[in-house]
Amino acid sequence: MARPTIVIALPTSESIAVCAELDAAGFEILPVEHPDELKAAMEGRAEPGLAILDGEIDIEVALEYEATLGGEERTVPMLTVVSPRAFERLAGQAGGHTGDEYFTRPYSADSIRWRVEAMCIRRETVDDGSGPILQGGEIERNAWGGRATTIAVFNPKGGVGKTTVATNLASVLQSRKDKSVLLIDADTVTGHVTTSLAIDSVRTVADSWRDEAEGGPSESMHDISSPHDSGMRVVALTDSPLHTDVLDPPRVAAAIEQARNQFDIIIVDLHPSYSTLNQAIFEVSDKILVPVTPDVPAVRAAVQLRDVAVNLGCRERLAMVINRANSGLSVEDMERTVGMPGLALIRSGGLLFVRAANEGRTVIEMFPKEKITADFDLLADKILGIPKLSPAPKVGFRLPTRSKEPARA
Ligand SMILES: Nc1ncnc2c1ncn2[C@@H]1O[C@H](COP(=O)(O)OP(=O)(O)O)[C@@H](O)[C@H]1O
Ligand SMILES: [Mg+2]
Repeated sequence: MARPTIVIALPTSESIAVCAELDAAGFEILPVEHPDELKAAMEGRAEPGLAILDGEIDIEVALEYEATLGGEERTVPMLTVVSPRAFERLAGQAGGHTGDEYFTRPYSADSIRWRVEAMCIRRETVDDGSGPILQGGEIERNAWGGRATTIAVFNPKGGVGKTTVATNLASVLQSRKDKSVLLIDADTVTGHVTTSLAIDSVRTVADSWRDEAEGGPSESMHDISSPHDSGMRVVALTDSPLHTDVLDPPRVAAAIEQARNQFDIIIVDLHPSYSTLNQAIFEVSDKILVPVTPDVPAVRAAVQLRDVAVNLGCRERLAMVINRANSGLSVEDMERTVGMPGLALIRSGGLLFVRAANEGRTVIEMFPKEKITADFDLLADKILGIPKLSPAPKVGFRLPTRSKEPARA
């Protein structure tokens, strides 16, 4: 059994579904109803990978659980499930162990699974390396060293400029900011990043993982990716929406995590849906850029995303990019309506995008002096100012009240 043990100390009504979900995901589950039960179960056993606790129980009982898990020296991270009100109260408090996180009710068993997966990825609970999902072995570090900032580009609506923003932002970071960039096309349904960059008939992650299952070598995202003329590397998860079974979401998230050691910046273009794959990618992203065009359907979709993101635990990492922004548009109005800080404005580029795509290039390379390139340049500077998640981050831990949230990042 390669996957870690997850202690589940939740009310029975929730525990059943969560246990079933985590069990199906291959985790060893350890449901307990009382700290004594946990104490007995932990004797002679390897340390659990994670404990899911109910944040609404008596403080004494909670402390007893914590003591059983190691007290002050505890290394087992805790995921505490609380009501949204308790969450807001806790958000204002400092303290807690590194790696601990909160999760708000109501939630689905599926959504808590993804949080558990991400916490395990961050803790690097790789046991013997033979697990079906997390790959063992030393993570290669090349000359670039550090951990890449990972940026997901998402809006649940299509046609708002996700792919345009992802591609041109990647290009500007590589060619004008001297960063090593990996652009990942994670739109498994309508992805066309590689073709629009004239990188045709290349291996996809799905190809590689299928080959691996048949005895082929294990390849990293870097190995699978192709170079583009702009200098960045580009990889697509798949070129067919039909055969995506091999793209197990936690494995994709783990592969992105691993690629962080080989690039400065990773940009991930997503399909407009709340798929489990997208949720897994949100979990490993430092920032989720939300392109929004100033029209009612796009704004509505962004408002919905803002609300859904509270349950997904990524609300704080959303940042709006106002796309096709014409003059006279009020950023403040957009921020107020959408309820997200605006990071940058990208003006309408007219046919420049079409002309660039015809050449398999980005607007950045082809039209370096156009104002739209300057817009992307500014966005890139904002991205470079984003603090990276620490190796054991508290994703979704703080939920600041709207009034306290900075208007601009
Ligand atoms: N700022 C812009 N100016 C002009 N055209 C744009 C702009 N942003 C996006 N487009 C065009 O809008 C269409 C949809 O953009 P795309 O990036 O594919 O959206 P999504 O990935 O969200 O579905 C594309 O044809 C693209 O060239
Ligand atoms: Mg797209």
